[in-house]
Amino acid sequence: MFSNNYKMSKIIKATSLLLTLIIILPNLATIQSPEFSEDIVINPDTKVWDVLTSLGKVNINSIDKGRNSDASKGRQLVRRGVTVDFKGKKTHPTSHKLTCIACHTTEPEHTLPSTTDPQKRLEYADSLNIPFLPGTPFYGMVNRFAFFNNDYQELFANKNKLAIQAGHHDIRKAIQACNMVYGKGRILYAWEIESILSYLWSLELKIGDLQMPDSLVAVVQEAVNKKVNNIEAIEIIESFYPAVYPATLVTPLAVEKRKKTSPVINNFNNGMRVYKHSCLHCHANNKYTNLHLDSSEKSFELLKKHFDDGSLHTMYDAIRYSPGSKGNKTNPPHYTAERMSDQQIQDLRFFISKMAQMGNDAILYYKNY
Ligand code: HEC
Ligand code: HEC
Repeated sequence: MFSNNYKMSKIIKATSLLLTLIIILPNLATIQSPEFSEDIVINPDTKVWDVLTSLGKVNINSIDKGRNSDASKGRQLVRRGVTVDFKGKKTHPTSHKLTCIACHTTEPEHTLPSTTDPQKRLEYADSLNIPFLPGTPFYGMVNRFAFFNNDYQELFANKNKLAIQAGHHDIRKAIQACNMVYGKGRILYAWEIESILSYLWSLELKIGDLQMPDSLVAVVQEAVNKKVNNIEAIEIIESFYPAVYPATLVTPLAVEKRKKTSPVINNFNNGMRVYKHSCLHCHANNKYTNLHLDSSEKSFELLKKHFDDGSLHTMYDAIRYSPGSKGNKTNPPHYTAERMSDQQIQDLRFFISKMAQMGNDAILYYKNY
């Protein structure tokens, strides 16, 4: 009755059960008796949360109607870092330079929301010319029930570690903590957080986004109608998107290993994609940073020169060491293993080396590789 897709995700779920148990257990407690909820007819535009609540799941990220909030103010805070408060006064910037969209996309990262694989996401980002960023996407953020997961709760050695931990099951606290730790910004007011949350609600998942096979939509619809097998129906839906984004903090690849690049094991064009959709998104024209990078030989020479010297300009350290750790010298936003792979960083190294060596001729040379 179930598709292979669903079976596979069941297997994946089972193997990672131990790790996610801590996250899932409190979640089970949030399923209430469905008798009190209303019936709905599921179509592609139906909101995923509407189906889940009708199956009895408690919406933990819902807007607090008792607080002032405004999605368009939230959108401005996210995109520009400033807005106008409810008294008509312009707010102080949320952060000096690092607004949310420096590090988080507002578009889906893949046609299938369950895709977290960095290479598939990079190819998708390249096809639509959207950035490839360290933060998880805002699209579908309110559909998650845990934030800053795994290593963020254990290994993360930041002075604001407690704030990050407090955000694990609380989206408002996760927003506050992120602006402080990653945005290096100020404390946000309650109405600002509520407005950002309200904007994030405009980016919630719809059933059509999940691309579930019709047979499974029918199973869910039946559960909604007959009020049976609710937990199973919830599990089916949640197997089609990451209700939790896994996060593994890693240190830079060892120097001996990273020196081994070649046209056989590395992909020049893939390295170019990383440079374009990651590095340049923040470093071009100092948009979000102090270090300017572009497509000139000077940029490539600089990066290449410092590949392995462990100096301020060593890109491996900038990409991998997390804020608060010893190697995180200039406080850059790092990428977890899930957000950028070592293979991608090595492809980037190969691309940078060749660009420094051959200039633009390298692009022609590797065009059809
Ligand atoms: C300099 C980069 C940066 C900036 C700026 C930034 N974030 Fe983040 N954010 C991150 C990273 C990195 C993570 C952790 C991603 C992961 O789990 O791998 C994160 C995680 C989050 C999470 C938890 C998401 C999850 O799926 O676990 C929330 C919520 C969040 N950020 C909200 C915001 C908001 C709202 C702003 C703006 C006020 C903001 N962030 C600004 C980099 C940033
Ligand atoms: C989300 C924004 C963002 C992205 C994406 C990003 N960086 Fe950075 N990077 C920063 C910030 C912020 C700093 C901190 C120092 C600063 O402001 O210049 C930094 C610091 C650095 C540094 C050390 C500082 C220096 O002056 O040399 C290097 C090297 C670096 N980045 C390289 C890269 C490379 C290579 C990529 C592509 C894989 C990349 N960065 C992607 C934001 C970003």
